[in-house]
Amino acid sequence: MKKIVITGSNGLLGQSLLDLFLGDKTYQIVALSRGESRYPIKDGYDYVDCDLTDFEKLQEIVLEKQPDYIINTAAMTNVDACEEYREECDEINVQLVEYLTSLSEKMNSHLIHISTDFIFDGKEGFYKETDQPNPLSYYGVSKLKSEQILEKSSINFTILRTILVYGKVHDMSRSNIVLWVRKMLLGEKEITIVDDQFRMPTYVKDLALACKTSVDKNAKGVFNVSSNTLLSVYEIAQQIAEVFELEAKYIKPISTSVLNQRAIRPSKTGFNLNKTQEVLSLELKSFKEDLQRFKEDIT
Ligand SMILES: NC(=O)c1ccc[n+]([C@@H]2O[C@H](COP(=O)([O-])OP(=O)(O)OC[C@H]3O[C@@H](n4cnc5c(N)ncnc54)[C@H](OP(=O)(O)O)[C@@H]3O)[C@@H](O)[C@H]2O)c1
Repeated sequence: MKKIVITGSNGLLGQSLLDLFLGDKTYQIVALSRGESRYPIKDGYDYVDCDLTDFEKLQEIVLEKQPDYIINTAAMTNVDACEEYREECDEINVQLVEYLTSLSEKMNSHLIHISTDFIFDGKEGFYKETDQPNPLSYYGVSKLKSEQILEKSSINFTILRTILVYGKVHDMSRSNIVLWVRKMLLGEKEITIVDDQFRMPTYVKDLALACKTSVDKNAKGVFNVSSNTLLSVYEIAQQIAEVFELEAKYIKPISTSVLNQRAIRPSKTGFNLNKTQEVLSLELKSFKEDLQRFKEDIT
């Protein structure tokens, strides 16, 4: 039996991982997040309420559990908040990873960590795992630092880089592009969406599956995980309208420059997915196909 600690189990990816692992009794799961568990099922795994910046408490729990794998999904993911609250961002996005790395060293555990397309400057797009990072935002800097901690360590690790993750789990602390656009269009509200930023959105179920496959195949190194089509965020919103059969006339294009956001976003990301498809054998599809699947899952 493989013992796995999942950090940030209340989050979008965290809960999606519980969905995936709990059905299979060959895994023993320990879920860590702060406050009460927001996952609706309470049996079949251990949940521990833990502020992950309380490193003493974290150490006590993790050393007691002695996991074979740690999947770290916890992060400060609000890009503008990371720009403003850098210390807080560092604590969870960098120091926690440093800490989990040293615990993994002690226990000989394999650490699976999630990173982002925001480590790139967005000048080229279709990034390979080996391309040169150059983050534009503090969030991107923090995630790159977390990657470098793993790269410099002697532990077994997997870094899964992903883009614009969406999906739906129970009692969510924040929304995502698909749920937000759908909600606004359902309410017949006009929305303005940038047409000069390009992304390959990721259905959270695929990201969760990539985590599980990394465990099952004991895959090590860096892997890209996203859908396989590069679209402007405006086109993404239009496809959401189309798949959910909502009026696209409420979606208005704007350019990034008028938004005045605190953090700078890369204009064109997107991944080359060859390595992931070959080594992890994951079938990554178009955004529209994934959306169709998401629609079926929630209706
Ligand atoms: N979402 C995206 O578009 C995106 C894109 C690229 C990469 N990623 C990466 O993917 C990973 C998973 O993201 P996600 O979308 O699942 O994020 P999420 O829904 O925000 O989940 C993160 C979880 O971490 C928890 N957490 C944060 N600080 C904590 C602390 N100090 N103690 C305990 N728990 C803490 C949060 O708790 P609360 O719910 O209580 O706040 C939340 O449940 C992250 O590493 C993120 O950087 C995400």
